[in-house]
Amino acid sequence: MAYQLKDLVNLERYPIDDLEGAGAALLQSCQDSLADGAMCHLSDFVKPEALAVIQAETNARRDRTYWMEVERRAYSWRNPDDYPQGHPVTLTTPNSIGTITQDCFPKQGAFVSIFEQPALTEFVRRCLSLDSLHPVACPYLAANVKVMSEGCRHAWHFDQNDGAVTLMIQSAAAGGHFEYVPYLRAEDDENYAEVGRLLSGEERPMQRADLADGSFCLFKGRRSIHRVSQVTQGSPDRLLAVFSYHHIPGHQYKESTVRSVLGRLPETYPNPA
Ligand SMILES: [Fe+2]
Repeated sequence: MAYQLKDLVNLERYPIDDLEGAGAALLQSCQDSLADGAMCHLSDFVKPEALAVIQAETNARRDRTYWMEVERRAYSWRNPDDYPQGHPVTLTTPNSIGTITQDCFPKQGAFVSIFEQPALTEFVRRCLSLDSLHPVACPYLAANVKVMSEGCRHAWHFDQNDGAVTLMIQSAAAGGHFEYVPYLRAEDDENYAEVGRLLSGEERPMQRADLADGSFCLFKGRRSIHRVSQVTQGSPDRLLAVFSYHHIPGHQYKESTVRSVLGRLPETYPNPA
């Protein structure tokens, strides 16, 4: 039986299927949160029964995780060779994280079903005030799960695209906190001095979002530097779903993008023509 929106989302608290009526105030408050603090955090967004199914679907596929351990720069879209040594664009911090790809999950399962709900896409589009938004069509990365076991951490970075969409499937036993500085940079004001202090490990003011199991989150990551602190105790792992969208329907990621996220291409990846 395919899952429907009402089976997956706590519609009593978050009426995302009625944005002109009962959900209008919710939409406004989400837009305000994003404008004010770069983050919209909706706790208990997923129904407990559905969340338990998503957790089970994910934990059953843990041995299919692509693990990556690299030094990561904060600005993935900038060429560090264009900047002097020591400039914030050239600085790196440790990054250790795994990914379970969408093709590992059952097509009719709860994980894929929630991502493919048209009402969820429309809600995200309206929250981010975009003209058009569609789920990405990449069979591997459109919806994927970031796995962080003990010792894993996600390096400080800015996103290339604005408007990250995530669902906390399972928080870590200890550590693995999402930390960020809202609107630290702008396209016309890079604020490199402050970014440099942060990347060098100085204690600086930052926000921490306590994302509990079932939290749905929108985040303006292109201007707001963010990281996930080290998971200090695993079992359970930290499991975070990442949902990917694009303004054009049917968008596919380039081979180089899939390779850089997973560290290698999946065995089932089609051979280039
Ligand atoms: Fe990010």
